[in-house]
Amino acid sequence: MTTKRIPPKLKSLINLLNDSLYHPGSWLGQQLGISRSAVWKYIHQLQQWGITLNVHKSKGYQLPQPIFLLDAQHIETELTTTSHPFQLEVLSHVNSTNDYLKSKIGTATNAIPFCLAEHQTAGRGRLGRTWISPFGTNLYLSCLWSFQQDLSELAGLSLVVGLAVIAALREQGLRDEIKIKWPNDILWQHKKLAGVLTEISAETYGYAQAIIGVGLNINMPVIPTPGINQDWTTVHAITGTIQDRNKLAALVIKQLLQMIPHFAQSGLKPFLATWRQHDALFDKVITLEHGNNQISGIGAGINTNGHLLLRHVDGTICSYSSGNTTIQK
Ligand code: BTN
Repeated sequence: MTTKRIPPKLKSLINLLNDSLYHPGSWLGQQLGISRSAVWKYIHQLQQWGITLNVHKSKGYQLPQPIFLLDAQHIETELTTTSHPFQLEVLSHVNSTNDYLKSKIGTATNAIPFCLAEHQTAGRGRLGRTWISPFGTNLYLSCLWSFQQDLSELAGLSLVVGLAVIAALREQGLRDEIKIKWPNDILWQHKKLAGVLTEISAETYGYAQAIIGVGLNINMPVIPTPGINQDWTTVHAITGTIQDRNKLAALVIKQLLQMIPHFAQSGLKPFLATWRQHDALFDKVITLEHGNNQISGIGAGINTNGHLLLRHVDGTICSYSSGNTTIQK
């Protein structure tokens, strides 16, 4: 696995270009105390990471949309009142933040390890899908959590994580039309805004470790993007304002640090009312892909295990523990 830190000169270059103006390479070099060719190398690096930069022969370089880099200190200062101990690592590049934390399993610590990356080279979604993860625009966050519980008691965990993301978005002012589609797709007007990938391992009865991954679309330009084949949106597109990713990262971490211990202690029951408020499937005609089967029914909420409830034509209500749901138009 390769993980890298962002070179301080590159950080400073991004800051200089964040005014959306053109700057000649010679001026940028002077400001940074590096040669023009070193400036060019950093520019080339940014382009390779998928950043759109305008290059003009005489005017120089322009960043059309500012990049607000993640900053561990900034995030931590927003979290000073959080009672649960945590440790935070911000990476420039990693294959997947979930995979990165897998390598930390077994390194016992009281503080919950959180990891954020500017860019994932092999971001993973649910059901074996790829999670497209361009540099410096979205949130790719994972944490590693130990539970003194049996695997079977953690079925609702990923649903609670979805509710934590919704709570964070609400704190940021996104209150309308944010829904959760079982098990944990966060949608705005039926478009995907965030997703959750939890991976749980249990070696002994009564003890389990979960890697919890959250991908939240924040400032990525909403343009057709290879690898994404569903309707999607971003916080920027919804609000019309470039978002402070550090603030959103802190809000998500804060909600996770509050809600996961509550879930570990009391299960899913205290969260059912909030689920109901945001349930995208409630009273909708649903198709559930479950193994090789396609099952239809009307969404009837979830049970305390976090299983989806569907009402069938004969009036029976059945619960389903896994699958992919589609709302019939
Ligand atoms: C989904 O398919 O909806 C789940 C997407 C989860 C993506 C996040 S980004 C951070 C973490 N690292 C990964 O590789 N995946 C999760």
